[in-house]
Amino acid sequence: MTPFSTNLRESWRIGPVEVPTRVVLAPMAGVSVQAFRRQGRRFGAGLVCSEMVSCAGIEHRNERTLGYLRVAADEHPLAIQIFGSEPAVMAEAARMVEAAGADIVDINFGCPVRKVTKTGAGATLLEDADRAARIVGAVAGAVSVPVSVKMRRGVADGSRVCLEVGPRLVEAGAQSLTLHPRSARQMYTGVADHSLTAELVSLVDVPVIASGDVTSRAKAQSVLAATGAAAVMVGRGAQGNPWALREILLGETGEPTREEVVAELVLFMRETVRELGERRASGFLKKFYGWYLGRGRFPRPFKQELVQLATTSDVEARLFAEVPGARFVLQRVEAEQPAVDDVLLADMPISIYGGG
Ligand SMILES: Cc1cc2nc3c(=O)[nH]c(=O)nc-3n(C[C@H](O)[C@H](O)[C@H](O)COP(=O)(O)O)c2cc1C
Repeated sequence: MTPFSTNLRESWRIGPVEVPTRVVLAPMAGVSVQAFRRQGRRFGAGLVCSEMVSCAGIEHRNERTLGYLRVAADEHPLAIQIFGSEPAVMAEAARMVEAAGADIVDINFGCPVRKVTKTGAGATLLEDADRAARIVGAVAGAVSVPVSVKMRRGVADGSRVCLEVGPRLVEAGAQSLTLHPRSARQMYTGVADHSLTAELVSLVDVPVIASGDVTSRAKAQSVLAATGAAAVMVGRGAQGNPWALREILLGETGEPTREEVVAELVLFMRETVRELGERRASGFLKKFYGWYLGRGRFPRPFKQELVQLATTSDVEARLFAEVPGARFVLQRVEAEQPAVDDVLLADMPISIYGGG
């Protein structure tokens, strides 16, 4: 440990919300389902976040969108992230998100994907600071929970626009900012330039979360020391690898056993099936097989065999046949986990209740 190391197990606050550790699990579309978030909390993330939810989808009571608003009792504190471009629609979506049980409403000003930016949402809003500030103002005025914003450095490579927009968003009511200091154009290439995070920290008086390329305790400590950020956010490093959170938080090194890997994967599969239903879950889960079983943990053909199987029950049976001891680890983990008590919105379509 360096003399400047931050205690990652120290609590901090976003407005009135106490966040028990300085490690935050990143919102990731197509990844941050409830099972991912609950697992993240179990492995030490102090705050978890839903994937971005369309405010238009909420406005039109789109069934799949409303499914993203399911909150389990053991997820808190939880941020639900919304995206959109109309202040009034965003404000209405924020009210729904608060009613669903979110502790924080997070606004997405970072998504670089064309499908989102062409609607005037996501990272494009960094180029329209007035509108971005109006969105934050409208959302902050609509809810009593704190509002946070997640952004990129800007749209174009080398942009520093986040340093102009960030303070304006705080003035408009944002109680925390997360910066992923890559440009939207970069997508996920190159490196996150956390010197910008340090500059942002010096410009605002709310906690800043540093996102980008944090995959180890050493990197977390160096980013916190170099930036003065309140917390680090972990995204890709935690995909199929909740043990990374534990390593970052506690310095627990060493690979998980094969039994632990399979037990966590099977638990994740069961929860995802409960959440999404078998049909959607079986497609959704395929990328997770590689994430869990890769990293040199299992030979590559084994993963290839799993993705060919028709149902998640087939996959589960094959996993247990390969690693029988995983059943006992799973039993222990399941016993330690509280039963799920989803909070569902009163006006959710009836078919959603059917799923859960
Ligand atoms: C598959 C994927 C989906 C993502 N979806 C979102 C999202 O919905 N909202 C968001 O704010 N950021 C999203 N991100 C960005 C991450 O939250 C994070 O800022 C970025 O991946 C950098 O952190 P990392 O290096 O720890 O992965 C996504 C990233 C990935 C890889």
